[in-house]
Amino acid sequence: MNPLRGARISGTGSDLPDKILSNAELAETLDTSDAWIRERTGIERRHVGGSTATMATNAGRRALDAAGLTGVDIDLVIVATTSAEQMMPGAAAVVHAELEIRGGAHDLNAACSGFVYGLIEADSMIVAGLDHVLVIGSDALSPWTDWTDRSTAILFGDGAGAVVMSACDEPSLLGWDIGADGTARHILFTDHNDTIKMDGREVFRKAVRAVMESAGAAMDNAGVEPEEITWLIPHQANTRIVDSICEKLGIDTDKAVMVIAETGNTSAGSVPLALHAAVDDGRIKPGDLLLLAGFGSGMSWASAVVRWQE
Ligand code: COA
Repeated sequence: MNPLRGARISGTGSDLPDKILSNAELAETLDTSDAWIRERTGIERRHVGGSTATMATNAGRRALDAAGLTGVDIDLVIVATTSAEQMMPGAAAVVHAELEIRGGAHDLNAACSGFVYGLIEADSMIVAGLDHVLVIGSDALSPWTDWTDRSTAILFGDGAGAVVMSACDEPSLLGWDIGADGTARHILFTDHNDTIKMDGREVFRKAVRAVMESAGAAMDNAGVEPEEITWLIPHQANTRIVDSICEKLGIDTDKAVMVIAETGNTSAGSVPLALHAAVDDGRIKPGDLLLLAGFGSGMSWASAVVRWQE
C-alpha cells in the first residue's frame, strides 16, 4: 500500500426539490409562527416533495460533472440515507443505474451523520486501492413528517448533496472521529409506516456535547487547533445548536457555513448541501481547512478535518 496514497474531493453537487414550504404556510395549519421558527431554529423555509433516489442521482450527476468524470470512472457509490423509497434495494441501486456507474453500490444508514461517515469510509476505500468513490447524502423526510406535530414539522425538509473522492498523493482527510450511543436511540426515531418521533430538548443537549467531543477529537487527530479552521460545515439541524457548538469549540460563528434558512434539516443531505454551497460561491479556497461535523439519530456522530485542494 502506498503510504502517501489518500483522497481529495474532486467535485461537489447538490439538489433540492422545486416545491418550497415557508414558515408562514406552516403557520396556517399549525399552532406556530414564522417569528418563533426563525428565532428558535434559524429556518425560514424548506423544500418538500422530493424523491430520495432522484435527488441523489441529480446531486451525484452534478458532482461527477464538476470532477470531469462519468459513471464508468466510479469504483463505488455510497448513498447515505434513512429514506430510501424501497426496503430493498437501496437508493444506491437507482443511482447506480441512472448514472451508469461501473463499480459497487450500497446505502449507509447513520441518519444525519451518514454523509460524514460515508466520506471517512470512502477515504479508507481509496487508501485501500479504489480510484474514485461517489459519496452522496440524500433524504426526503417530508413523507415521514407528521404535519400536525409542531415540534417536528417545522424542522425537516428534503435535499441532497454529493462529492466525488479521488485518489491523490497528498491526503486531504487529516483527521476524523466517529461515534455512537445506541442507548439514546429512543430520543429520535421513525418506525416503519409511522412518522418521525423526537424529544427535541434531549436531542439538542446530546448533539452539542457529541459534536463538541467528536470535533475536538478529529482536530486532535489532525493536529490542528480550532483557530486554524477556515470553515465549519455542520449538520444543519438548528442554528442555536451550531452557535452553541462554535462557542464551545472556540470557532467564530461566522466561520459556520449555514444553509438551514433555505433548507431546514435535510438529514444526510445537509452537510454536503452546505459544503457544495460554499464551494459553488467561491468561499472555500485551496489550502482552507474544513471541519465537517454530523450528528443525528442513533445517536450517531462523525467529524472530519479536510484540507481543501484545487
Ligand atoms: N411553535 C411555537 N411554539 C412552540 C413550538 C413551535 N413550533 N414548538 C414548541 N413550542 C413551545 C413549547 O410548547 C414550549 O411552550 P411552553 O414554554 O409554554 O411550555 C416552548 O415553545 C418551548 O419549548 P421547547 O421544546 O423548550 O423549545 P425549544 O427552544 O427547545 O425548541 C426545538 C424546540 C425542537 C426547535 C429544539 O428543541 C431543537 O431544535 N431540538 C433539536 C432537534 C433536532 O436537531 N433534531 C434533529 C437532530 S438530527
